[in-house]
Amino acid sequence: MATRFVCKPPGPRAREWIKRDTRVVGPSYPREFDFVFERGRGMYLWDVDGRRHLDFAAGIAVNNIGHDNPDVVRAVKAQLRKGIHAGFLDMYARLPVEFCETLLEHMPAPLNKGRVFLSNSGTESVEAAYKMVKWTTHAPYVHSFAGAFHGRTMGALSLTNTASKVQKEGFEPFLPARHSPFCNPYRAPCGVSHDCVNGCLHLFERAIKDGQVGAVFMEPVQGEGGYVVPPREFVKGVREACNRHGVYLVSDEVQAGCYRTGRFLSIENFGVRADVACISKAIGGGVPLAATVSIPELQQWHPGAHANTFGGNLLACAAGIAALKFMRRERLGENAKRIGAYMLKRLEKMKNRYEIIGDVRGLGLMIGIELVKDRKTKEPAVDARHAVLCDATGKGLVLLPAGESTIRICPPLIITKKQADTGLDILESCFEDLRGAL
Ligand SMILES: Cc1ncc(COP(=O)(O)O)c(C=O)c1O
Repeated sequence: MATRFVCKPPGPRAREWIKRDTRVVGPSYPREFDFVFERGRGMYLWDVDGRRHLDFAAGIAVNNIGHDNPDVVRAVKAQLRKGIHAGFLDMYARLPVEFCETLLEHMPAPLNKGRVFLSNSGTESVEAAYKMVKWTTHAPYVHSFAGAFHGRTMGALSLTNTASKVQKEGFEPFLPARHSPFCNPYRAPCGVSHDCVNGCLHLFERAIKDGQVGAVFMEPVQGEGGYVVPPREFVKGVREACNRHGVYLVSDEVQAGCYRTGRFLSIENFGVRADVACISKAIGGGVPLAATVSIPELQQWHPGAHANTFGGNLLACAAGIAALKFMRRERLGENAKRIGAYMLKRLEKMKNRYEIIGDVRGLGLMIGIELVKDRKTKEPAVDARHAVLCDATGKGLVLLPAGESTIRICPPLIITKKQADTGLDILESCFEDLRGAL
């Protein structure tokens, strides 16, 4: 099918840059479509040929506050004149402290009384959580769920457990980690759908109850695994089992955090508290920044036990403070909830019109559309997903993949209803094209 589906090719300058890229950039980046970025503003991106695109990707859930955000630009410019890097590993500095204070104000209990470790990327924030738990508990194992993505450095990769083999293949052996199924309501991995919660919780408790597991790492809404929203009782059950067996709960908020699901942390939607939160992507307003926030009892490690050169970087912290203040002042969580609910309603209607759409799901502006070849067998429609992504790019809409055959919608949280409609109109026309090509 994909061979019969012809996407609009990128412009001449884009083709030239892609050629140059191929010569010098390593091949491990999994690019799905041919978009060459030139500049961004608000909800829009321009490619090197001057074509404007509506952004439903936000640089993988990074640009929550929109591109070229004036508050962040102003803060970074002001800091540029004072100093870019201090060396927070060896000396104190005002901005990283101010950033941590601002971040803690956004955190739910008990993390609002916690302490922060600073780094530069999602995988580093998970790595820090892993080491913190290991140092505190000395337990040999950690646990994560099927479909989880926690990053690509070796500690985080040991926790990553998506269906796709490409991230882990060839990197064995991993650090000791146990896994059990995540309650995915569409695929019901632990029994028939109504028993997804109990079935998965049973297997989960069996995996952690022998006293050998120090922490459970969970994305309350799975990201790379396919934008999967579990039932509330599942997340609550995980917390209860952790309490029963003295296991810490680490909430990986790298993708779902920073108001993307309506609340600052996605775990808050489930009425569940975390012992650790890993935050990155949107927290720096587009500048690399990450934070591992934990309850004080997990922050007893000695000086030098964990540190880095760039954590607390002054430009990143200036950007982070501005981004956090903008998110709160502009009530981006409320907008994410309102526009997300509206988009889900429209997508449900699309699902009724297009057989290829097996499932539509989401929380706030973290929305997944899973494509299947057959609604009964639920066989993933991988080629169809690729066709929609490249067709959309040609029509001026940037989308991303997630999981095996899910289209991911994660626009900047500043999106208006009109922009949401424009994007969904383009998406619908892609499903129409796809029907014609099948
Ligand atoms: C939930 C989650 N954790 C960790 C990571 C790793 O983040 P990074 O790519 O910044 O290392 C990602 C990246 O997509 C993620 O979605």
